[in-house]
Amino acid sequence: MATNHEILGRHEVDDLEAILAVTNTDVNEIQHLVRSNGDAIFTWDYDRSRPALGKLYERAKKSQWNAQTDLPWDTEVDQEHVVLANALANNMTFGPELDTTGTPFEKWGDAEWLAFGVQSQNWTLSQFLHGEQGALICTAKVVETVPWIDAKYYAATQVMDEARHVEVFAKYLDEKLSGHYPINAHLKLLLDDIIEDPRWDMTYLGMQIMVEGLALAAFGFIQQMTTEPLLKQLLRYVMSDEARHVAFGVLSLQEYYQQLTEGEIRERQEFAFEAAVRMRDRFLQQEVWDHFGVNVKDAVHVVMQAPERKVFQSMLFSKIVPNCKKLGLLDAGDGWLRQRFTELGVIQFEDWTDTGEEYSTLDEVSKDREAASA
Ligand SMILES: [Fe+2]
Ligand SMILES: [Fe+2]
Repeated sequence: MATNHEILGRHEVDDLEAILAVTNTDVNEIQHLVRSNGDAIFTWDYDRSRPALGKLYERAKKSQWNAQTDLPWDTEVDQEHVVLANALANNMTFGPELDTTGTPFEKWGDAEWLAFGVQSQNWTLSQFLHGEQGALICTAKVVETVPWIDAKYYAATQVMDEARHVEVFAKYLDEKLSGHYPINAHLKLLLDDIIEDPRWDMTYLGMQIMVEGLALAAFGFIQQMTTEPLLKQLLRYVMSDEARHVAFGVLSLQEYYQQLTEGEIRERQEFAFEAAVRMRDRFLQQEVWDHFGVNVKDAVHVVMQAPERKVFQSMLFSKIVPNCKKLGLLDAGDGWLRQRFTELGVIQFEDWTDTGEEYSTLDEVSKDREAASA
């Protein structure tokens, strides 16, 4: 059995020192090269033998949208105003509510917390942008490596979706926000691991189940919370696509996992655990604290105490845990992954709706079109 050290590179999952020691050492790099392993597979079996994937493919074709013309890009965005309006609308008193005596925030007033809110938004959207590019690359890889024709068809539509997502987040950052952040080192490690793995189903597990499962939850949270109409609409549309992507992962892996041995399933459990921890680590926003020149470890220590932070952090797993359960990963073997998710404090989501079918209710693009033509 693999140890924490073998999976994560550290013995204790919550070792803050070790987590923060992982940083992006080349923030000016323009290109990042990763060896993409795995075989490109031709199939001569063109039979449409997987109707659930076929249905998803038809839905994807009908739900395409245009990033340039389907969103209200003429919306004026005053970032500081948005940060304040969001805090007011959601009853958030993040900074001032904490006891900051003896911490890096002791002298922080409203102006500093406002500036933090702005940077935090720049950082969050930047990480979404980089994650979307990861999805674009992973999905292009799935087109090559998955052995089933129905899955190749579907994955091709997802490549288009992800190009559009990269496009909308890049445009929003450029035109509406006030700065970009380079990719977070934990997210980068995870994306590299997914792309390097030669087993085609690991691309799905890492991307469609873990990264996109988390993205769907995070987008949903921000979409509910934001008072900014352009971002709200943008996230609604991106989420319609993401729900299909996660469903694609669940439907494909459900079939494939049935033929795996217990040992092979254990490797998938370990990969899911690694991905979960890397994604949790990235949400510590270490680059934002760096931006303000405060001691990152002290800062993280303080914000981890904020109750809404804990809620947000665990909510990120609200799609991942039920989907892992549906795939049989929670309880396979001796329930190894259930134990790990319990330690991470996210097991309470196990009976929430999984995403195998949920995508049709999240198809906002089709709903808008039906409303417009009625
Ligand atoms: Fe995406
Ligand atoms: Fe996606």
